[in-house]
Amino acid sequence: MADSNHTPINLAPINLAEVEARALGRLSPMARDYYASGATDEVTLRWNREAYERIALRPRTFVDVSARDLSTTVLGRRHVWPVLIAPAAFQRLAHPDGEAAVARAAAAEGVTVTLSTLSSTSIEDVAAAAPGSPRWFQLYVFRDRVLTRGLVERAEAAGYEALVLTVDAPLLGRRERDARNRFTLPDGITAANLTGAVASVSSDGSDSGLFQFFASQIDPALTWADLEWLCSITRLPVIVKGVLRADDAARAIEAGARGVIVSNHGGRQLDGAVASIDALPEVVEAVADRASVLVDGGVRRGTDILKAFALGADAVLLGRPILWGLVDGEPGVRHVLQLLRAEFDLAMALSGCPSRAAVTRDLIV
Ligand SMILES: Cc1cc2nc3c(=O)[nH]c(=O)nc-3n(C[C@H](O)[C@H](O)[C@H](O)COP(=O)(O)O)c2cc1C
Repeated sequence: MADSNHTPINLAPINLAEVEARALGRLSPMARDYYASGATDEVTLRWNREAYERIALRPRTFVDVSARDLSTTVLGRRHVWPVLIAPAAFQRLAHPDGEAAVARAAAAEGVTVTLSTLSSTSIEDVAAAAPGSPRWFQLYVFRDRVLTRGLVERAEAAGYEALVLTVDAPLLGRRERDARNRFTLPDGITAANLTGAVASVSSDGSDSGLFQFFASQIDPALTWADLEWLCSITRLPVIVKGVLRADDAARAIEAGARGVIVSNHGGRQLDGAVASIDALPEVVEAVADRASVLVDGGVRRGTDILKAFALGADAVLLGRPILWGLVDGEPGVRHVLQLLRAEFDLAMALSGCPSRAAVTRDLIV
C-alpha cells in the first residue's frame, strides 16, 4: 500500500513541526530552499533550535493559575501575547495572497506584523488589505539614499508604526542551496516596493539572484552615523534588528534606537554566529530597561517563548513558521499563531506563571 495513504492530510497539523513538514512537500524546490536554508553549513540554523532545547525550566507549584494574562509591553504598547511576525521577503512564493494574507491573519490574532523591504506586495497594498492592522516596516539601507528615504516616507504615510533597521546583512549570507538553484523570482513576482529592472531580483545565471542584488544595491558601508541619520529623518521609533552583543545594543540605544532585536537572521547570515537565545542575556543586561528587547530565531514551541521571557525578552518574533503556515493562506497563518498561543498559555500555567511579572530569571536552571 502506498505510504501516502497513511497520512490523514485533512487533519490540521497539531504543532509547528507538522505545519513545516506539510509545507515543505508543497512548495516549489526553489521557494522551499530559499525559505528553509541557512548560511553555508547551517550550523547557526541548528544552534538556534538546540539552544532552546538545552535550557531547562524550574516550574513553580502552589500558584493559582486559573486566570492567565499573556500580555506584554513593546515600545510602550500593550500586546495581548508576546509574539510578533518577523520580516521575511517574497511571501507570494508561498501563496498568491502573500503578505496581505499574513497581515490579515496577524490582525485577526492580535499580532503585529513586520513587512520586509523585499516584500512581494507593496507597502501600500498591504496597508489597504489589512487596514487597522498593527504593522512595522523593515528597512534595508540602499546605496541610493533617496530610494531609502522614499521607503521610509511611504511606510510613514501608510500607517506603519515602527521601522526595523536590519544591520546584519551588509552583504547577503552565502546560502548554498540558493546558489545551486541560481535563485531568481518567478514571473509575476517582484520586489514590489522597487521599480525598474532591479525589482525582478533576477540571476545572471552564475549565482543566487538575491546574493547579486545585495552586492549591487544594499549599502555595505553602514555605520552608527547612518543609524543617527535614520532616527533624524523619521518620526517613527527605530528598532535595530540583528544585534548579538551587549556593546552594540547599548550603542544602538545611545544612537536613538527605541528597541533591539537579538537575531542572527534565522541562521542565514554569518554561519557560526551565536544562537540568538544565548546572546539575549547580555543584551538585556546592557539595555537595562532603557528600550524594548526582542529576540528571534528558532522559536517553535510555547515553552521557547516562556524561556525568552524568563531571560528578559519583551517579546519574540516568528520567521519561517509563518511562511510554512502561509502555504495554506490566511487560515494557515492563523492556525500557526493559534497553536503557538495555546502552547504558550499552557506553558505559563504549568510553570506557575499567571502573568509576565511572574516569569523571572530563576525559572531557568
Ligand atoms: C525566507 C526568509 C526571508 C527573510 N527575509 C528577511 C528580510 O527581508 N529582512 C529581514 O530583516 N530579515 C529577514 N529574514 C529573517 C527573519 O526576519 C528572522 O530573523 C528569522 O527568520 C527568524 O528565525 P526563524 O525563521 O527561525 O523564526 C528572513 C528569513 C527567512 C526565513
